[in-house]
Amino acid sequence: MNKLSISNKSIDTILVLDFGSQYTQLIARRVRESKVYSEILPWDIAEDKIRNLNPKGIILSGGPNSVTESFTPRAPQCVFDLKVPILGICYGMQTIAEQMGGQVMSVDQKEFGHSELKIINESILFKNLDKKINVWMSHGDQVQDLPDNYNLIASTKTAPIAAMEHKNLPIYAIQFHPEVTHTENGQNILNNFIFDICQSKNEWRIENLISQRIEEIKEKVKKDKVLLGLSGGVDSSVTAALLHKAIGKKLTCVFVDNGLLRKNESVEVMQTFKDNLDLNVIKSDSSDIFLRHLENVDDPEQKRKIIGRTFIDIFDAEAIKLKDIKFLAQGTIYPDVIESSGSESKEARVIKSHHNVGGLPEEMKLDLVEPLRDLFKDEVRKMGIQLGIPKEMIERHPFPGPGLGVRIIGEITKEKIKILQDADAIFIEELVKANLYNKVSQAFAVLLSVKSVGVVGDERRYAEVIGLRAVETVDFMTARWAHLPFKFLENVSNRIVNEIEDVSRVVYDISSKPPATIEWE
Ligand code: XMP
Repeated sequence: MNKLSISNKSIDTILVLDFGSQYTQLIARRVRESKVYSEILPWDIAEDKIRNLNPKGIILSGGPNSVTESFTPRAPQCVFDLKVPILGICYGMQTIAEQMGGQVMSVDQKEFGHSELKIINESILFKNLDKKINVWMSHGDQVQDLPDNYNLIASTKTAPIAAMEHKNLPIYAIQFHPEVTHTENGQNILNNFIFDICQSKNEWRIENLISQRIEEIKEKVKKDKVLLGLSGGVDSSVTAALLHKAIGKKLTCVFVDNGLLRKNESVEVMQTFKDNLDLNVIKSDSSDIFLRHLENVDDPEQKRKIIGRTFIDIFDAEAIKLKDIKFLAQGTIYPDVIESSGSESKEARVIKSHHNVGGLPEEMKLDLVEPLRDLFKDEVRKMGIQLGIPKEMIERHPFPGPGLGVRIIGEITKEKIKILQDADAIFIEELVKANLYNKVSQAFAVLLSVKSVGVVGDERRYAEVIGLRAVETVDFMTARWAHLPFKFLENVSNRIVNEIEDVSRVVYDISSKPPATIEWE
């Protein structure tokens, strides 16, 4: 399948060559935070792709391998031939040392975590920094002997050669990770490299990226038609808006209403995209089919599978009705790309379950368009605002593909969906009113499907229990339950019990992740 080329010759670019570190994405992100465009390529990419990028500087990332073993990755020769500044980080440092004739050893005392770095010799890389800084280390190997023509510039207790630079050429190498926030002044070190050493201009803006991507989409799609599964989430919405700008009505979006969306969500998505942004959107009203397939099913995994399969069937049926579609657009973003190391052909793709169109019939032979593939969520959000998507939609908390299906414990019925939608809407409305919505990462209501006795006025009420869940998290892998004010929770609880007849009790979930997951099912 073709991929969008994202080279950008007109703007200063820092190339990050990826050796498989868990922090590679962070390096690119930090460079872009300094308003310099940065692109990541795998270490074994064809050399002409590196040359075509015309980079102002190259950063070699860390990686899990050991240069002391044969057949482990090395920097391609063209990296050195291009004569642009180079910064090796961790494995990147070790491969420079090894390739330049120095010596790298595996050491008994592996270093993971904080370490004190002493700057021994002046270097532009450490310009305006204290002589001692706290850095983040994560390595088993280290440089034992400097290559010829290299100077030692910094040490730690366990790594005597923790930073080195070439005597005449702009080649620098550090054993620690400046890209992680645990390294004090890490951004300054990267800035010294990209501005003082590479002389890059800080002229990259999200607007540049929008026009660049529009040109690339036009060039790739030409006169053909593109299909997109629109979920109303940030990623697919921004992809839709971007493609619309590039190819207008040649884009068709399919929005599947599975009946498991938040209150009024289906109407809002259609209003935003069809009426306000003038997109070509086909809405498939499929709640009855989903509900029929989910009848009498109470197992969470089975519910997820049924929802996923039904989605694919409906999306396929809609896609087949459309004629001459050549491309499938997806809102894949950087964190979805699970494997960034290795050659391009080995790269794995993750298709998100909620726009899981992996089941599209083979005979449709669609090529992929993924214009957000190298972007982080906050960059996608900025792009969305620039493209005219309403702020409320862009700042919306994440919503799982199976929707309310995994927030109704046990069997799903129309009645339960309605109760949950109403309770959830009250919770969210109050969060917004209290200025708390953007302070939590995700908040929602859950219908527990147990009944409890209550008393409302003089009446006994035997009705549903609603759970409220709100979490704070950066990456959604771990999360802390949000310490919302009691007064606020009291108000939400009162409103839910008073306004929804079928609810007798409200509880607040005080479980963090792990061990609990964010969703209940
Ligand atoms: P958990 O429950 O695993 O959730 O702690 C982590 C984050 O992922 C979201 N989530 C999903 N997103 N399809 C999605 O697109 C899914 O099937 C799915 N399940 C969970 C969840 O809302 C939270 O943000």
